[in-house]
Amino acid sequence: MAHRGSILLVDDEEKILKTLSRALRDAGHEVVDTTSARQAQRLLNARTFDLLVVDNLMPEMSGLDLIRELVAGTPEGERPQILMMTAHATVESAIEAMKLGALDYLQKPFEIDELLVVVRRALDHQRLRTEYRYLVSERDEQFDHYGIIGRSRGIQDVIARAEMVASTKSTVLITGETGTGKELVARVIHDRSAQRDMPLIKVNCAAIPETLLESELFGHVRGAFTGATSNKKGKFALADGGTIFLDEIGTMTPTLQAKLLRVLQEREIEPLGSERIETIDVRVIAATNRDLRQMVADQKFQEDLFYRLNVIPIEIPPLRDRREDIPALVEHFVRKHAQRTGRHVEKIDDAVLTGLQQYDWPGNVRELENTIERAVVLSQGSIISPKAVSVLGAATPQATGLPSLKLRQNIEWVERETIRRALEGAGGVKKDAAELMGISQRALSYYLAKYRLD
Ligand SMILES: Nc1ncnc2c1ncn2[C@@H]1O[C@H](COP(=O)(O)OP(=O)(O)OP(=O)(O)O)[C@@H](O)[C@H]1O
Ligand SMILES: [Mg+2]
Repeated sequence: MAHRGSILLVDDEEKILKTLSRALRDAGHEVVDTTSARQAQRLLNARTFDLLVVDNLMPEMSGLDLIRELVAGTPEGERPQILMMTAHATVESAIEAMKLGALDYLQKPFEIDELLVVVRRALDHQRLRTEYRYLVSERDEQFDHYGIIGRSRGIQDVIARAEMVASTKSTVLITGETGTGKELVARVIHDRSAQRDMPLIKVNCAAIPETLLESELFGHVRGAFTGATSNKKGKFALADGGTIFLDEIGTMTPTLQAKLLRVLQEREIEPLGSERIETIDVRVIAATNRDLRQMVADQKFQEDLFYRLNVIPIEIPPLRDRREDIPALVEHFVRKHAQRTGRHVEKIDDAVLTGLQQYDWPGNVRELENTIERAVVLSQGSIISPKAVSVLGAATPQATGLPSLKLRQNIEWVERETIRRALEGAGGVKKDAAELMGISQRALSYYLAKYRLD
C-alpha cells in the first residue's frame, strides 16, 4: 500500500507506543516511533514529517516543551502538523499545545479508531497546506516571470509606477484603451501590496444596472427595497482591509458618482436602508477606457471625484504605440496556449511575426492574445504558419486567460477546503478556526462570505 503521510510518534510507554504504531502502520501510514523526547527532537531536525503525535507527560521532556521548541525553531510552512495525547488531568497542556499551533489533541484513554480519524484529518490538513503553498508560489512565479510583459519605455513606466504605488495605500486611476492590461496592472498592484493576503474585490460598474450597483457596492439591510429579503454585505465591506477594483468607472451615473465621492472622502459606507455607518479601510483602484478629463469638461463626470481618483494616474499606452513589445508578447502567449492546449507549438513564422507587428491592434493585447490562441489551436506543425493567423477578423471581444482562471479555481478550491476543514476542526468556532489557519478573523469572515460557508 502506498503510504499515506509520514508520522513521528512519541510516547515514553513502550507498550502504548507499539500498539499505536502498529495500528497506524496497518492504516497505511509511514511511522517512526520513539520513547525518547530527545530522540524525537533529533529526528525532527534530521528529516521532515507530515505529522507529529506526541504524549505530554514524559520523563526527559514534556510533549508541550517538545512542541514549543519545534514551533520556535521551524517556520510554520515547514512544520509537521501536531497532535498531542494527554491524560484527563492535563487537558490544559493540550489547550496550550493548540495555542502553540497543534491541530488537535486526544484525551487518554482513546479508541484506536478515534486516533485514526484524527490522524487522517491532520494529514489532509497538511496536504492542503502544502498544495496551497505550492499554488501560491506558482501564482507568485507567474507574476514574476509572466506578469506584465514588455520592454518598451511605455510599459516599463507602467511597471515602475505600479511597483511604487503598491507599497502605499493611495488611490490609483488606471487608464488605457480596451485590452491594454488595466485589470492585470490592478492585480499586480494588489499582489505586491502589504494587503496581498487580504481580498481584492472587483466590481465591473458597466455590467451592473444602476439600481443594483449601489447595493452591490455598499450593501443593504433586509427590507431596504422590494426583493431585499436579507442583509447583504457590499463589495466595499467585503474588500475591507484589501483592495477594491472599480472597473469601467466612467459608466457610473451622477448619483452614484456623488455617493462614491462621499465614501472616498469619509472612508465610511452606509448600507442601503441602514442607519449604521461603517468605517472601512480599503484601497481603491479605478480603471476606465474613457477620457475622464474630457468627461469632466463635458460635465459627465464629477470634477471632485475625478481628482479624488486621479491621485496616482497610470496610463497604459495602446499596443500600436509600443510595437517593440509584440514579439515578447507573442512568445509569451504561444507558450501559454501551447501549454494549455497540450500542443507542441514552439514558435511563430518570421513573416507572420512581421505582419503582427504591422497591424494596429484596436483590441490591443487582448486581441493579440486571442489571435495567438486561435493560431495555436489551428496550427498543424510546431511553427505557426501564415495560414493559422488571419489578423483580419481576428478580434473577438472575449475574456481570455483560461489557464490563470483554472489556477484561480484551484486556489479557490484549496482555500475553500482549508477553511471548511479548519472550521470543522475548530468545532465551528470561528476564532479558533482563524487561529488554526494563522489568518485574522477579519480575513476568515471574508472567506466565509466568499464561499458562503456561513
Ligand atoms: N503587458 C502584458 N503582458 C502580458 N499580458 C498582458 C499584458 N497586457 C495585457 N495582457 C493580457 O491581455 C488580456 C487583457 O488584459 P486586461 O483584461 O487587463 O485588459 P483591460 O485593459 O482591463 O481591458 P478592458 O478595458 O477591455 O477591460 C489579459 O489576458 C491580460 O493578462
Ligand atoms: Mg478590464
